[in-house]
Amino acid sequence: MSIGVCYFPEHWPGERWERDVEQMAEAGFEHVRMGEFAWDRLEPERGRFEFGWLDEILDLLAEHDLTAVLCTPTATPPKWLVDERPGILQETADGTVRGFGGRRHYCFNSPAYREETERVVSELADRYAGDPRVAGWQIDNEFGCHDTVRCYCDDCAAAFRDWLRERHDDVDALNEAWGTAFWSQSYPSFGSVDPPCVATADHHPSRLLAYYRFASDSVLDYNRLQVALLRDADDDWFFTHNFMGNFGDLDARAVAEDLDFASWDTYPTGGFARGGDASLRTGAFDTVGMNHDLYRGMSDERFWVTELQSGEKDYPADSPQPAEGAMRLWAHQAVAHGAGAALYFRWRRCRSGQEQYLAGLRKHHGGPDRAYGDARETAADLADLDPGPVDAPVALLHDYEDAWALDIQPRSSSFDYWAHARTYYSALRRRGLDVDVVGTDADLDGYGAVVAPTLCLADAALADRLRRYAERGGSLLVTMRSGVKDEYDKLRNDPAPGPLAGTVGATLDQRESFPRDEDGLDLTYRGESFAYRTWAEWLDVDGADVVGEYAAGVGEGRAAITRNRVGDGTVLYSGVWPGAELADALVADVLDAGGVECADRLPRDVRCSTRGDAVWVLNFALDPVTVRADGDAEWLVGDEEVPPAGCSVVRAPLSELAFER
Ligand code: GLA
Repeated sequence: MSIGVCYFPEHWPGERWERDVEQMAEAGFEHVRMGEFAWDRLEPERGRFEFGWLDEILDLLAEHDLTAVLCTPTATPPKWLVDERPGILQETADGTVRGFGGRRHYCFNSPAYREETERVVSELADRYAGDPRVAGWQIDNEFGCHDTVRCYCDDCAAAFRDWLRERHDDVDALNEAWGTAFWSQSYPSFGSVDPPCVATADHHPSRLLAYYRFASDSVLDYNRLQVALLRDADDDWFFTHNFMGNFGDLDARAVAEDLDFASWDTYPTGGFARGGDASLRTGAFDTVGMNHDLYRGMSDERFWVTELQSGEKDYPADSPQPAEGAMRLWAHQAVAHGAGAALYFRWRRCRSGQEQYLAGLRKHHGGPDRAYGDARETAADLADLDPGPVDAPVALLHDYEDAWALDIQPRSSSFDYWAHARTYYSALRRRGLDVDVVGTDADLDGYGAVVAPTLCLADAALADRLRRYAERGGSLLVTMRSGVKDEYDKLRNDPAPGPLAGTVGATLDQRESFPRDEDGLDLTYRGESFAYRTWAEWLDVDGADVVGEYAAGVGEGRAAITRNRVGDGTVLYSGVWPGAELADALVADVLDAGGVECADRLPRDVRCSTRGDAVWVLNFALDPVTVRADGDAEWLVGDEEVPPAGCSVVRAPLSELAFER
């Protein structure tokens, strides 16, 4: 567990480097990430490589016992390259070429860009293979940032057609699989299938889903190309990529299989927090937590936070200052969720370019910025901690393809795959539970309870595994919009939840959806009244018990929530998007059925995470919280008075902690 920083030496004159590096070492850092946008410095003109400046910095880091994580510079093809080979540029769906001037302007399927990538990556691999100053590599930077996973250029069109040819015996099979009889959309040949560019109406969902899969596979392939070159040069290096939070365009789980571990860039107030509560200052903690758990699930032992917000943020437009201490709290949250390292973004604010209004640990003129003290303190906190792994008793299933299918036909102005899953995640976290966010193919043995939101594309194999999990005594929660579509995004012949119907013991009769703020969406669950939002399914039971019924509306009296016994286990099905109170009640029942012990609800804006025998108490509120622990408890960081935006770590079982505000 260590703290590090992202550094851009190319922004500063060489005379400042030594002082910068000394200060990083003084702060107790271990890792320094560099080079992700430095192609023009590494290769100012074709074939003329300049590694001298990088070597100088690497020497300085090594002298101060700091290890470097280098990045391949492919997110920013330089001007000379774009001018020579303009065909590498991305195209949007309306045919606009995305020109030079930002970043990520290349196409993943451009043969020319793949050639250039091989060239620059091989050069770096040769130069630094076996170099003890370099611990590992970050491949590229934030695949898909600025909406760049899906390109619509001619190279993509050709690659898409090949991708389809590999997946369908002939074009008739494709027409059949997609159901192109609708609106006269049959294709006479593979060569006639274009990327889904701008059209008058919505595109055919099967074509869109195929394109989303293809685009994600293209990134996977591109990442694999780079990893293979570097690994071949030195397989002692580690390889990671800095994914983003709540980012659905790319199947990160699939990409991460080629890496040693996944990383992600964490900006708790920038981008996620909506305001109106403490999250404006301390961040959207469950969104952040769920992403930590998602990326931990893609990494065998550790995940990293490759960028951590260090204060003022440049995007989105509004940028409130984080609460005092929040930048330490966020690093602790990452570690509490199992991160092996958290690297602050960035060492110094810079004086030029697009990101002048983004904080650093040091101000652009060199003095300490707001997060510098937080970063030092966190490094000191962590120096003596050696906690065990996260051992979550509950799994939450997550699937990128389900997210794509639901995104293509959301059927509601307020449906959002991530927010819906987070409703359950937050309910689990409010009970102090650690949660593994895992793919639908994960091994479920060992989890007391499994929460499976919106398994839209669930197939027979997944249904079978879930049934077996329940039969062996598991407690399973399946939700609305599951088992609806086949793998090509067509409605199944059978009523939803399709292959899951036997396990759920109920089928879908009707569905309805609502705007976000619709009032009066009430149901009774086990005799109590609760609110729901956005989505409602009227269920026909076939073996299950009805435990929730609509209390109002056209569906009044219809079944909304069912409970089924399957072998030794229990399967709860929720046909609604629950409000927070209903989510808590559902989760409490699922945990109870699975014999999972949990705490009473934690105080507002407090979260706890357990690693081995250490519990992190993370206070995201703007007022303090007091923790009562018995005399055997050992305070490893802080004490029972946890300040606003503060954190304490205690060696004691969570069940023996009591909270007061
Ligand atoms: C992303 C990028 C960084 C930087 C930050 C700024 O996370 O990876 O290079 O642009 O955003 O918010």
